Amino acid sequence: MARSTDQAAGRENPPETQVLWNSRLREKPGPAAFAFQASIKVDKVLAQDDIRGSRAHAAMLAAQGIIEQETAAILDAELERMAGELESGSLVVDESAEDIHSFIEGILTSRLGDTGRVIHAGRSRNDQVALDLRLYLKRELPRLCAELAGAIETLLDIAEKHTGSIMPGYTHLQRAQPLTLGHHLCAWACGLERDLGRFEDALKRLDQCPLGSGALAGSSLPLDRKALAAALGFPEPTLNAMDSVADRDFALELASAAAITMTHLSRFCEDLVLWASEEFKFINLGEAWSTGSSIMPQKKNPDFAELIRGKAGRTSGNLMTLLVLLKGLPYAYDKDLQEDKEALFDSLATSSQCLAMFRGMMAGAEFNIERMQAALEGGFLEATDAAEYLVRKGLPFRRAHEAAALIVRDCIEAGQRGIAGRGLAELKNRSPLFEADIYEAIKPASCVAARNLPGGPAPQEVKRQIAVLRGKLSRR
Ligand code: ARG
Repeated sequence: MARSTDQAAGRENPPETQVLWNSRLREKPGPAAFAFQASIKVDKVLAQDDIRGSRAHAAMLAAQGIIEQETAAILDAELERMAGELESGSLVVDESAEDIHSFIEGILTSRLGDTGRVIHAGRSRNDQVALDLRLYLKRELPRLCAELAGAIETLLDIAEKHTGSIMPGYTHLQRAQPLTLGHHLCAWACGLERDLGRFEDALKRLDQCPLGSGALAGSSLPLDRKALAAALGFPEPTLNAMDSVADRDFALELASAAAITMTHLSRFCEDLVLWASEEFKFINLGEAWSTGSSIMPQKKNPDFAELIRGKAGRTSGNLMTLLVLLKGLPYAYDKDLQEDKEALFDSLATSSQCLAMFRGMMAGAEFNIERMQAALEGGFLEATDAAEYLVRKGLPFRRAHEAAALIVRDCIEAGQRGIAGRGLAELKNRSPLFEADIYEAIKPASCVAARNLPGGPAPQEVKRQIAVLRGKLSRR
């Protein structure tokens, strides 16, 4: 086949096929207006998916006797060639085309003439884009899920080393009760594990083939939708053609899963930023995971954690974009839907990238266990344990709470930093039930060891939680 210089340079987009809707309109939008309504800059990532869909469609058209077998073979060979050329870079997506579907069909027609012109029988860009998006998500999401699983594994590896590292736990950012670093990191891992489930769940629901839905009402041609679904690796075709082209709830679900994941990362990073401060000094982020200041020579800033926290704003915004985008749309397809991709792709890319950064930052961090231990002093984190000691001796909890609270008050008035500073007689003053074993019961290590209920911070229990989470990951 003779190739023009444009073709040789990988730029092929003959004017005749620039748009797929030439004949009806006498006028075409001007260059700025045309570019405004084009989506190629965003949907060009769907090129391989579009080709895959086209190959399945051509084969199905032939199997159903709608086109000749020989024609289908030529189409298939050319589409396969195009896929290879796009891969190698010898064919470059022309960004002056309207969208990826027009581009692929345009190239096919420019190379094959009338043979290329048969491909769109029974098909619309509406079902094409719905298909391409699903195919794209099915091949891209496993990577994001692997990134999530990797972040969880890193957290669990660190947690495993710190099942016995006691630190203060906080509520209202005030010291609350002693727990272990392993327990804290396991809490984070639990959130990410549910995020993974959300992505997997959304993936299962979008696993239906929309091809054959046409513009909105299917086709009068005898298309074989089951064969299309099978050829493209879907368990079944979508049930309703209109729903297939109109709905983007799968995009909402994924953008939501991404926004929730990023909200998790953002909160973890908020902890890290606090912990990295001189005031806390619980963590030393690696130098390779910190940045300096252009003016203050001494600075080592937790920029990576801050930026991940900041990027959570984008993913919340993208979810909002998609919700608002869909809210008022009359059924079925509306061009508004073209706006779905930018927001969704950005959410997925942002989550992937932030998960990788978070994982690297965590792996490169050192924990300052001495500082964590030191922070256990002075906050009366043992007060609940003192109250529960009295409950074990038979005192109603409200009375025990009152006695412990008064002891804390006594300590503060006497300038003492912990309940252990009070003598037994002073403690008995508040409750005669106190005995000498109270001092053992309120040591941080005892407080943590005693909290061995399922879910608690006791080292053995945290080991169990880590094993459960690892089991969930390995069963995937
Ligand atoms: N570029 C379009 C999109 O992303 C493809 C579908 C166009 N369909 C149409 N009827 N204009 O949604």
